[in-house]
Amino acid sequence: MGEVDQAFIQSIEHRANLDTIEIEGIPLIDLSLSHTTDINLLVSEIGNACQNWGFFQVINHGVPLELLEKIKVAAKAFFDQPVEEKRKVKRDEVNAMGYHESEHTKNVRDWKEVFDFLINDPSFLPASPETEDNEIRTLSNQWPETPPQFREVCQTYAREVEKLGYKLLELISLSLGLPSNRLNGYFEDHTTMMRLNHYPPCPFPELALGVGRHKDAGALTIVAQDDIGGLQVRRKSDEVWVPVKPTPNALVINVGDTIQVWSNEAYESVEHRVVVNSERERFSIPVFFFLSHYVMVKPLEELVNEGSPPKYKPYNFGKFFVARNRSDYKKLEVQNIQISDFKII
Ligand code: OGA
Ligand code: NI
Repeated sequence: MGEVDQAFIQSIEHRANLDTIEIEGIPLIDLSLSHTTDINLLVSEIGNACQNWGFFQVINHGVPLELLEKIKVAAKAFFDQPVEEKRKVKRDEVNAMGYHESEHTKNVRDWKEVFDFLINDPSFLPASPETEDNEIRTLSNQWPETPPQFREVCQTYAREVEKLGYKLLELISLSLGLPSNRLNGYFEDHTTMMRLNHYPPCPFPELALGVGRHKDAGALTIVAQDDIGGLQVRRKSDEVWVPVKPTPNALVINVGDTIQVWSNEAYESVEHRVVVNSERERFSIPVFFFLSHYVMVKPLEELVNEGSPPKYKPYNFGKFFVARNRSDYKKLEVQNIQISDFKII
């Protein structure tokens, strides 16, 4: 590629600083509970990480390590195929799941290709963001015929991460002083999606990003990454972009917009992005925990009172989600919807 494609170019203030920096990173939390560990200690570690960073890594998370290895191999095997093969399961306006090679974040093209699938197949979402439109759309997965075992590895891994997701939601509930199962009901018909991300080497890493700065719209995200590095988090204390250091066998966890609203901003959804490099390709595998489409999201009643009134108006999860994702397909002239649009000022 001789010419730099303008669609990928970030405005100057959003470009990456590619100098390597050593600064305080996000917390690393051991989830193993031996008889000597106090669950309250773990709960407070999780609570502090959610409050101070919105991001942390976990080890001894219960997702079998051989499966973690297998999913990384499967991701590479899928993306290594010729593009014509990958396009057989291409995502389009009708079918939102599958392979996609041109996503935009905040109207700038991301330097990546992805494969998306739902853990619940099919899942249901509103057909449009319009409030007066009650039509519900059925979303279902598209699976490639090759590589062999791809579907099986993806589905087995996703189910294991789903279990971890519930475990984390329980720890987060406890950390907010709520019963452990307080949030489970919102996920009965969840629209949780798993994504395989491939970031090829980029000839102009100082101009483009793998994923532009954004916040995740769901409740929680659990990311497996390889040893290349590139994910950066905007540190709450000083807004500096901090790299998330690849850590063997660890998974990266981040709080999404829904938890920010539920917790009435005790836990904030933090901005993050992915920096690319000119030498090596990178793979990452996020699972985005999304609610049942019909859930109305609002600050949890137990966490608001006269002295601390709700900071958000209730919104319908499905409508919000569909409105937000519209900009993936076409460049919109205006910034897409954010939870701040529901903020009570
Ligand atoms: C995302 C994301 C991080 C990564 O896909 O929303 O933030 O490391 N990915 O790929
Ligand atoms: Ni993200």
